[in-house]
Amino acid sequence: MTGVTVVTARVDGEAPVGFTANSFASVSLQPPLLLVCPAKVLSSYAIFERCEHFAVTVLAEDQGALANLFASGSGNRFSEIEWQPDASGCPIFAGAAATFSMRVHERVDAGDHLIMIGEVEAYECTGKAGLGYSNEGFFSLGLERRAADVPRSSDVTVGAIVAFEDKVLLLRTGDKWYPPQVESAGRRGSLTAIRYYLAAAGIEADFGPVYTVFDSQSDAAVFTYYRASVESPPPAAFGELVPVDDLTSLNYRSDAIGDMMRRYAVEYRQGVFRLHVDEELQGDAHLIGEDITL
Ligand SMILES: Cc1cc2nc3c(=O)[nH]c(=O)nc-3n(C[C@H](O)[C@H](O)[C@H](O)COP(=O)(O)O)c2cc1C
Repeated sequence: MTGVTVVTARVDGEAPVGFTANSFASVSLQPPLLLVCPAKVLSSYAIFERCEHFAVTVLAEDQGALANLFASGSGNRFSEIEWQPDASGCPIFAGAAATFSMRVHERVDAGDHLIMIGEVEAYECTGKAGLGYSNEGFFSLGLERRAADVPRSSDVTVGAIVAFEDKVLLLRTGDKWYPPQVESAGRRGSLTAIRYYLAAAGIEADFGPVYTVFDSQSDAAVFTYYRASVESPPPAAFGELVPVDDLTSLNYRSDAIGDMMRRYAVEYRQGVFRLHVDEELQGDAHLIGEDITL
């Protein structure tokens, strides 16, 4: 698990450059030094090899789209978003957890990357929660904790959206669909409960982050769903593999499950999954990333 940054630089007479980096680390307090490691294959590598300054924006939990923009090979990234130049002209981004303006202190050749150590010339820390990166996906540690912090008195149902290739495992009662789910006596054991439930059906799933938490006012129950995946198709008798493209047209067991599955279909196409905690539960609505229209 790491944080996520966007590292930028600008040299006279040339367009600004930048890339998404999780190789960011603190190095020294006196003087204040930190490092990032640009790969030698970066299209911007020649700039990072000779720039005198660079800037690091530590992304906030809702800036997954910015991380994707600076990790993909799209054209001019800086024309697609708002940015401000720091005192040396290096782009920094508003709404971040922190920004650092750096003067290059030392470069160390290291295999297929360069260790670029910089001295902090200016910084700003907003106190916003940072974006995390793990298992090729973004997450928010703060929201994971809040999602797990469900009142003990509630009944908890824990489920999983289990992906296999471009399909999702669903169960059906009549024409009402729902993901595999099980009631869990204590919240602490909720992940274990759904893991065992699937394993008993012969499904060894890899579990990712919490995807959705919502409460049902009618029966004071809390529902938590994880994202998971399998490498081989689950036994046909257990449920059906439904193509993600079909998720938007099914009838679901509850409105909340329907909302979640339609959101899953949209986010699958966008390639970014966001944690959703229902506002009834936490007194606050959180989506990692920008709002989307379903
Ligand atoms: C979370 C994450 C962390 C990354 N960390 C680094 C890194 O530390 N160093 C690096 O060179 N590339 C890193 N990359 C890959 C680059 O962002 C990506 O290859 C780059 O934006 C491609 O830029 P280019 O098309 O200009 O070459 C990371 C990508 C992601 C998604």
